[in-house]
Amino acid sequence: MQELAVYTTLLEDEITRLDFPKTPSNLYDPLRYFMQLGGKRMRPILTFLGAELFGLKKEAVIHAALSVEVFHNFTLIHDDIMDEAPLRRAKETVHTKWNQNIAILSGDVLFVKAFQLLAKQDPKHLADLLNVFNRTAQEVCEGQQMDMDFESRSNVTIDEYIEMIRLKTSVLLGCALELGAIVAEASLDDRQHLYDFGQHLGIAFQIQDDILDLYADPEKFGKQVGGDVIANKKTLLNLKARELANAVQVEQLNRLETEQDLILKVAQTRDLFSDIGARIACEIEMQKHYDFAMNSLKQINVADKNKQSLIALADFLMQREN
Ligand code: IPE
Ligand code: IPE
Ligand code: MG
Ligand code: MG
Ligand code: MG
Repeated sequence: MQELAVYTTLLEDEITRLDFPKTPSNLYDPLRYFMQLGGKRMRPILTFLGAELFGLKKEAVIHAALSVEVFHNFTLIHDDIMDEAPLRRAKETVHTKWNQNIAILSGDVLFVKAFQLLAKQDPKHLADLLNVFNRTAQEVCEGQQMDMDFESRSNVTIDEYIEMIRLKTSVLLGCALELGAIVAEASLDDRQHLYDFGQHLGIAFQIQDDILDLYADPEKFGKQVGGDVIANKKTLLNLKARELANAVQVEQLNRLETEQDLILKVAQTRDLFSDIGARIACEIEMQKHYDFAMNSLKQINVADKNKQSLIALADFLMQREN
């Protein structure tokens, strides 16, 4: 997206300049490798836009923005261990390229680095920033645990799923935005509306992530297509399929869950989900949360023109292919 280039250029520049020691190289090489793989850099852009919404320049929130991206990268390195994922951003995951212990520890360093970066913001905002950041970090862990617990459960409800993705994904988007609003000294009401915007956008974003995991073009996706099906993840596609399937289709879903030929499992599950109408049902649910997000954005007490970049980013995310 063209108008985002100014943000990503600044971020890539700052990320290259993050200084990590040279040794032990098995600790620092992996995290340097991972941080420089790119990615959409959406969360730090949200921090910039959260500040700009209230008239503050992006440079004033650079440390907070970097902190959120570094934290996100920490969660991805650990998430890839938990999900046994071979690919990330079209390259090998850290635990595949090095090993699991190295991935745990280099992820831990990024977790620490996130706090070091946040602490560079003006001390007058630090209590508020840390309050939001700490709560969010713990919630992400809660969401990740629920995600794993659900793999072996067959009675997960859609409400439980929404709560799980709110925790593992949405709270960080809300947090990224709110950090910007805190430094911009926005009112508590506006901070809350902006956070709510992030929550709903995050829910739509994670539903999209679930859809892409099965339906994306492998050339463009950068992650293993079908990873969620292989792990029997309770994605919205899976839950909607179970809800909408007839008796014969339920039997087929059950059989596919234990299918050993993984290529067959992914291909047949994809076709079955489409036949059942699960993909369309997910797209409707995604749109619903996108609309909720827009509704929260409307309630923020600033001129409409200040909201255009956030709307553009949200639209870009809903149409992404990776
Ligand atoms: C991946 O996030 C993790 C999810 C919450 C789905 P992104 O899709 O933002 O990953 P990158 O940073 O662009 O690689
Ligand atoms: C990950 O959800 C959320 C976090 C990293 C906290 P996923 O497991 O669906 O993310 P991807 O698909 O691996 O990026
Ligand atoms: Mg994953
Ligand atoms: Mg995961
Ligand atoms: Mg995913």
